[in-house]
Amino acid sequence: MPTDNPLTVEGVALGRRLFHETALSDDGTLSCASCHVQANGFGDPRRFSIGTTGQEGTRHAPALVNLGWDTAFFWDGRRASLEAQAHDPVVNPIEMNARWPEVVDRLRQLPQYPPLFHAAFGTPHIDSVLVVRAIAQFERTLVSFNARYDQFHATGDSTVFTDEERRGLVLYVGRGACAACHPLGMFTDHGLRNVGLEPFNVDSGLAGITGLSTDLARFKVSSLRNVGVSAPYLHDGRFSDLMAVMEFYFEHLEATTPNLDHLMIDLLDEQGQFTHAEKMDPIAFLHTLTDPEFANDPSFSAP
Ligand code: HEC
Ligand code: HEC
Repeated sequence: MPTDNPLTVEGVALGRRLFHETALSDDGTLSCASCHVQANGFGDPRRFSIGTTGQEGTRHAPALVNLGWDTAFFWDGRRASLEAQAHDPVVNPIEMNARWPEVVDRLRQLPQYPPLFHAAFGTPHIDSVLVVRAIAQFERTLVSFNARYDQFHATGDSTVFTDEERRGLVLYVGRGACAACHPLGMFTDHGLRNVGLEPFNVDSGLAGITGLSTDLARFKVSSLRNVGVSAPYLHDGRFSDLMAVMEFYFEHLEATTPNLDHLMIDLLDEQGQFTHAEKMDPIAFLHTLTDPEFANDPSFSAP
């Protein structure tokens, strides 16, 4: 957590309101929550989100969870803090398509906001820095550690799982090699990695930011928490269900992808070696990462 933006009850409350505030978009139709839907783990159920001009993006709006532990944001990791991230969708022409001075003017004229900024930051003066700080505070409260999996994590009692889920866990940490990048607990190692989708990537991922060929098609390792409710999957939402993801990992890894992550080697050796049941079991396990309280928590919904 950045030292210049400590969490306060008032800051989080303001951030929650701003996350659901359509005045952040040029025509007043979109809020952050329009593309980051709580029932979908704060991801977008559509493959590509649609901005206020009707234009589609080229990346899927990811689920938002446990972001306070992350250090790189967006699929290509181009922002280093939640504050810096929250600045961007407001001015992105294919998202909210607004100008910060106009947004700030609009908020100043809404009677509820100056007192809320005063309560949160000790000043009724509204500016973009305080807006993104409040939103980042709210996002840091989007914490999910209350899935059925967590009962097992806390007690080691594997009877919380069905047989299918237990076999899925064994495969997940064993032959499937999933835990190498999505370790138990956080279910992400916070890295940016190339999983071997195709030999010629349309989206260059991290390399689009650094210009380095060694960063080609490296994307942020997703947390798998709430993955059961946050379809579609991957940076471009190409897979509409978890079976399609399993088929990719177990059958269709592209060995000739330049810059393939070394942690994919074990899976490469096992291509085509998984039965249908061995693809179903990890899916059952992944569903134990769904936190029903998180999806329905009233303190995250529109105030
Ligand atoms: C029009 C749809 C849309 C709107 C509105 C929108 N987002 Fe997003 N969001 C996206 C997409 C698409 C991405 C992925 C873009 C990329 O990686 O290049 C994203 C990525 C993010 C991420 C990165 C998550 C991660 O794991 O790195 C955060 C955080 C986020 N958005 C928060 C917000 C906030 C806060 C707002 C409001 C100020 C907002 N979004 C408004 C579509 C949207
Ligand atoms: C080398 C690291 C690595 C390994 C090993 C790995 N993953 Fe991933 N995983 C990633 C990365 C990186 C992404 C995002 C890739 C993208 O968007 O192009 C991802 C994305 C996913 C997604 C989509 C999440 C979302 O919200 O879009 C699922 C589901 C998933 N992985 C499950 C698994 C399973 C199950 C295994 C084991 C069979 C596995 N992963 C093995 C790195 C890895």
